[in-house]
Amino acid sequence: MAVGIFDSGLGGLTVLDAVTKRLPDVPFVYLGDNAHAPYGVRDADDVCDLTSKAVHELWGRGCDLVILACNTASAAALRRMQEAGVPDGKRVLGVFVPLIEALTEREWGDNSPPREVQTKHVALFATPATVRSRAFQRELAFRAVGVDVEAQACGGVVDAIEDGDLILAEALVRSHVDALKRKMPDPDAAVLGCTHYPLMEHIFADALGEGVKVFSQPNLVAESLADYLARRPDMIGSGKTNQFLTTGDPKTVSNHATQFLRRQISFDAL
Ligand code: DGL
Repeated sequence: MAVGIFDSGLGGLTVLDAVTKRLPDVPFVYLGDNAHAPYGVRDADDVCDLTSKAVHELWGRGCDLVILACNTASAAALRRMQEAGVPDGKRVLGVFVPLIEALTEREWGDNSPPREVQTKHVALFATPATVRSRAFQRELAFRAVGVDVEAQACGGVVDAIEDGDLILAEALVRSHVDALKRKMPDPDAAVLGCTHYPLMEHIFADALGEGVKVFSQPNLVAESLADYLARRPDMIGSGKTNQFLTTGDPKTVSNHATQFLRRQISFDAL
């Protein structure tokens, strides 16, 4: 047993890297559904079906706790899976809430009524499906009032990253930031609402310019997972080995993962 980390593809590795650094003794099983990535251009039912299948796969392999290290899956599937009821002793958590708690200056799990916060103009960068879901705005409205959100659906960025084409990914990021700035010239914060985007964080930051605080999920998710596991150590399980699984071609996925994280990563076929 171990903690399961799921993403449509390579993006969740940014979260895996942060949680591994924060929790070096916890074994993780990573599952990338690379055969079906990107999720961001699929409809909500499709994303929900694929996510549910992957989470059941990880539960079946003894990962009692699964983190959806994917905003698109979190937006489309998390609430539906939780409402449908998860099997006894199993849990599934998403990546939205830690990010929004940080943006709204809250402690983990602070569910007090919405209030005014320092950040007033937020630029949200996410996949088309996440933007369409409005899940970010919904979660934000539970916690803050008076925050203006301008969302930019960043078509093409995930495909370029999955294909290992960083030059195309950079060009697309710069054009999406330009498009966002035409709608909101002076955001005070930017949210990278897709776990693939931290791989391009320096490009987002450069294109946004100084004075824009960039919120990126990996470290925030790592802190909130550490807090969760301190309260629920039984959810860690007793397994000892890390594993990388993919529904795609293990050789190609391993090469791209190694290129992105700058360390050798070896995927096995699911
Ligand atoms: N990395 C994912 C996310 O956080 C999914 C990207 C995709 O497959 O389109 O949204």
